[in-house]
Amino acid sequence: MATFAAASAKPMAVIDSSQLNLSQKKLDGLRIGYAFAKRKDSSSLKVKSVSRINMTIATDVSRFEGVTMAPPDPILGVSEAFKADTNDLKLNLGVGAYRTEELQPYVLNVVKKAENLMLEKGDNKEYLPIEGLAAFNKATVELLLGADNNATKQGRVATVQGLSGTGSLRLAAAFIQRYFPGAQVLISSPTWGNHKNIFNDAGVPWSEYRYYDPKTVGLDFEGMIADIKAAPSGSFVLLHGCAHNPTGIDPTPEQWEKIADVIQEKNLTAFFDVAYQGFASGSLDQDASSVRLFVARGMEVFVAQSYSKNLGLYAERIGAINVVCSSSDAATRVKSQLKRLARPMYSNPPVHGARIVANVVGDPTLFNEWKSEMELMSGRIKGVRQRLYDNLSAKDKSAKDWSFVLRQIGMFSFTGLNKAQSDNMTNKWHVYMTKDGRISLAGLSLSKCEYLADAIIDSYYNVS
Ligand code: LMR
Repeated sequence: MATFAAASAKPMAVIDSSQLNLSQKKLDGLRIGYAFAKRKDSSSLKVKSVSRINMTIATDVSRFEGVTMAPPDPILGVSEAFKADTNDLKLNLGVGAYRTEELQPYVLNVVKKAENLMLEKGDNKEYLPIEGLAAFNKATVELLLGADNNATKQGRVATVQGLSGTGSLRLAAAFIQRYFPGAQVLISSPTWGNHKNIFNDAGVPWSEYRYYDPKTVGLDFEGMIADIKAAPSGSFVLLHGCAHNPTGIDPTPEQWEKIADVIQEKNLTAFFDVAYQGFASGSLDQDASSVRLFVARGMEVFVAQSYSKNLGLYAERIGAINVVCSSSDAATRVKSQLKRLARPMYSNPPVHGARIVANVVGDPTLFNEWKSEMELMSGRIKGVRQRLYDNLSAKDKSAKDWSFVLRQIGMFSFTGLNKAQSDNMTNKWHVYMTKDGRISLAGLSLSKCEYLADAIIDSYYNVS
């Protein structure tokens, strides 16, 4: 049987070789229009009928018949749906991206200045080393751990520039998969929508620990500690360094101490995702205090960093993975393996965002300006948080306690709305948000708070 059909999931045309041989033999004797068959790996086949020989004609048969349609991304897909809505009242509270009071994207002034510096210096576009820009790597670890940190001074931190938070997490996940096969990663329930994808795609098993308590709209600290205690020795515990996404609920400093105790006692390894340093509280140091607490205890930790939010460098894909080790020798080896994993994945990282970070952090004037702009952004979010709470409390006649909105921190508020209620927010009120009930306050303006409060109250009380 000679198969000339495309190597597609559903071969559409199969020609028996005896038929072909026959056609070959009779080629001279028969009047043939044409017979044309593409190679075996071709996706289209055209064979015209040859006298009494009937051949199947199959055209435009795709190799991808077996590829099913992927669902829209639960977060980035919301922005696509928002764009398609033509209603003037629409509000995009889906993706965590900062907007001005006029709901416009914001490029930080320090970023523009850092870019001008790059132009003035005439920086080139040569490849970076696999581990990234040296000045960026130095700046990023200092920002994370503080300028005079012992781990950095002793060369115990393996830092590799990453493709923002996601790329940095993914690289570390590949490392875990290779060097700790079968080890589990414990993930908070709930967590950022992409965490599970990252570990799934890297082939790293994960399970969940309790985090959010719907009754209190707060932290289920007892549940969290119990689940971490029950984890198999050698597991990794994914922690949100600050401004937990999606809940906006963080452990207190005392609770962080207890979390560190349990992780240390049970021989587990903390893996921090730090996506909002400086953006949550307005202070770079305060937002890094959870990580610094673990490092000060001499614990080995992974820390993924992102500059998407705090420097507004969303599309530059700039971040880092840091592995704090107990010896400089271990750090050197870990770094060599991270580079080895990065090379076949994306070769080496992009330079633009790395230079911006290095220029901002490396210049005392720009660094101070950055801190002011971060305070401005986090201050605006705190302002809409307060206004939303005021509107909810004033409009809700049933005296429900909405103060959880004020207790949450960072870009998001976890409203407690279920999927049907979140659907109502979008379908009736044109408020775009993730289906887990999360709203991005960074995409809200003071003038829209009242409208949003109406939408929340309607959805909460009228949809079950
Ligand atoms: C978010 O949670 O909205 C952001 O971190 C954007 C993203 O990549 O999901």
